[in-house]
Amino acid sequence: MNTGGMQKDRGAGFPPSFLWGVAVASYQVEGGNLWSDWWEWERTPGHIKDASRNTIGCDFWNRYPYYLDLAKKIGLNAFRLSIEWGRVNPEKDRWSDEALTRYREIILACRERGMEPVVTLWHFTLPQWVSHEGGWTNPETVDWFLAYVDKTVEALGDNVRFWITLNEPTIVLSLGYKTGVWPPGRKKNIVGFRQARKNQIFCHRETFSRIKKKTPETQVGIAVNITYNEPYRPWFPPDRALVFLANIQGDYAFLKRMQSHLDFIGLNYYFHSRLAFVFQPDTSFYVVKNENKIVSDFGWEVYPAGIAKVSWDLWQRFRKPIYITENGVADANMNDKLRSDFIRQHLLYLSRSIAQGVDVRGYFYWSLMDNFEWAEGFPYRSGLYAMDYEKQIAVPRQSSVETYRRIIAEHRISHGNLK
Ligand code: FCB
Repeated sequence: MNTGGMQKDRGAGFPPSFLWGVAVASYQVEGGNLWSDWWEWERTPGHIKDASRNTIGCDFWNRYPYYLDLAKKIGLNAFRLSIEWGRVNPEKDRWSDEALTRYREIILACRERGMEPVVTLWHFTLPQWVSHEGGWTNPETVDWFLAYVDKTVEALGDNVRFWITLNEPTIVLSLGYKTGVWPPGRKKNIVGFRQARKNQIFCHRETFSRIKKKTPETQVGIAVNITYNEPYRPWFPPDRALVFLANIQGDYAFLKRMQSHLDFIGLNYYFHSRLAFVFQPDTSFYVVKNENKIVSDFGWEVYPAGIAKVSWDLWQRFRKPIYITENGVADANMNDKLRSDFIRQHLLYLSRSIAQGVDVRGYFYWSLMDNFEWAEGFPYRSGLYAMDYEKQIAVPRQSSVETYRRIIAEHRISHGNLK
């Protein structure tokens, strides 16, 4: 593990009201989301690496008490989930009270188990009817999204103290409009990217204002994915310029446009990239030169120091409370050393950031159980619990569950839980 020589550091404790959670997203765990654009997308051969389709998945929609019980066993006091727009609003002008009632039950089930629900309004998927009308590039989508927000907040808001408007907007738009590997599958469509981005920014700001107007005490934020970019050769100006450019293209830029409409920043931190300048005008001007001593099944290098660097950077730039809304590692191995080390080391760095004055108020591991990993399908397994999809059971990955449970119970990184 590349820890920068910090293994022996005890770190520090976590603030008393710190939220300890896990994160899931509706499309990835619920199953049966046949009104969503991803449902359609998955059914075109070649879109998903794994041949199986996300039909029932983890069946969280019907079996949420089972999963919430598993979450409770870890000692969590928070649970991050999302609402599937296509369930609530399956066709234009058709609303499903049944879906909203079920979400209400899920949220209350979190509360009954002592877990604060942190609820995301949009985690990547659109209703098919919205995507058929142009999705995020259509200015009307703004009205449709806000109508969905009004309905949802009206139905669920009295039990939600934390709303997240959008999850990782830049990632979705880059994969959907630049590389085209996610819906709507457009390549190098910069005009589409810009239009979609403009509409999303408006949606975020307006959602924030509407919720705050009704219930000023409710906390409203956004979840962004920030890679820790660093120059491969710190002394080489072109490498440093690459880092500068990468940062302005990513979610930092998005945040800048929203900072007047944010109670907190949700940080999804997964990895770092060491950027090196190369002169290949036909292909690219950079390569990523990581050491890759330890990598996840995604090929992402495990780099715990990055969580502290990005948190520090966000705090310096925006001075908003930070929640780590996602952090996790895909590792299918049942010998669970990589994941438990991952959790420990990231929390160690985070505790140090807190000691240095960064206002971090919560940590959500991605994810409670293995689930549908978008274009990668089911083989990518990030869960504290391993899914047996056929039998529909979730089996604890003992070492990770125990590591996380112990850190939460002790509320600090101690010598005991560092081992
Ligand atoms: C994040 C997504 C989440 C999951 C993890 C592995 O970017 O928000 O849904 O796919 O990656």
